[in-house]
Amino acid sequence: MTISHHRISVSDAALHVAVIMDGNGRWASARGYPRVAGHKEGAAAVRRTVEAAPKTGVGTLTLYAFSSDNWKRPAREVAALMRLFRKHLASETPKLVENGVRLTIIGRRDRLAQSLQASISAAEDATRRGKRLHLRVAIDYSARDLLVQAASRCDPQALPDRETFAALLGSAYGDVGPARDVDLLIRTGGEHRLSDFLLWECAYAELCFLECMWPEFGEVHLREAVEWFHGRQRRYGGLVTAAAG
Ligand code: FPP
Repeated sequence: MTISHHRISVSDAALHVAVIMDGNGRWASARGYPRVAGHKEGAAAVRRTVEAAPKTGVGTLTLYAFSSDNWKRPAREVAALMRLFRKHLASETPKLVENGVRLTIIGRRDRLAQSLQASISAAEDATRRGKRLHLRVAIDYSARDLLVQAASRCDPQALPDRETFAALLGSAYGDVGPARDVDLLIRTGGEHRLSDFLLWECAYAELCFLECMWPEFGEVHLREAVEWFHGRQRRYGGLVTAAAG
């Protein structure tokens, strides 16, 4: 990348930042609220982060909203999360269009309610032309399941190269195609795990673990994490080439 520390250039705008939005439940419990209140406040943090992303040099933002393992949560919490996704898809879509944000959902769709699938398609269609930010929201997502799915579609006679395999990964569930590698992965909530998120795409990601709970996250946290990223040296297994000039 050809950027100085202080001036964000066009090439910098292509950063792919992925976020594991953890800590909604603990944020709510610490205040004596039900867990669902934490998810609602988490949705407000999603809005702040999406608004801040293009200003911070982020071109692709992938958010982990619901993992395939999250189906194991109590039915009431799952239902509340699904309601929240549907509600926000409907209410935020006009704002996304206005702000040049393209929204796509990654993950399995076949286990989602028909009404949610319809809201997803409508939001994806409406935002199709967004160029300022590609917002990818992972719902019913498991990187391992996706890897198995893509592997099962490989030709056993001719194993694919990395690029071809990435394309298989990107299209396994009818998604729009492979995303570029993740540059920076942020996880809030104090845990230091990947939790089956973007295992292939994070091969060379810088990992940033924050103590704050997701509902507390905002523009300042994103900006600080991106600045920290630019201070890292990325070597990709070789010798020194600086991420920032
Ligand atoms: C993890 O916190 C968070 C989730 C499983 C849900 C993420 C959902 C949102 C932020 C809501 C809205 C999203 C969109 C895209 C509108 P946790 O419940 O595991 O927290 P805990 O570790 O404190 O229990």
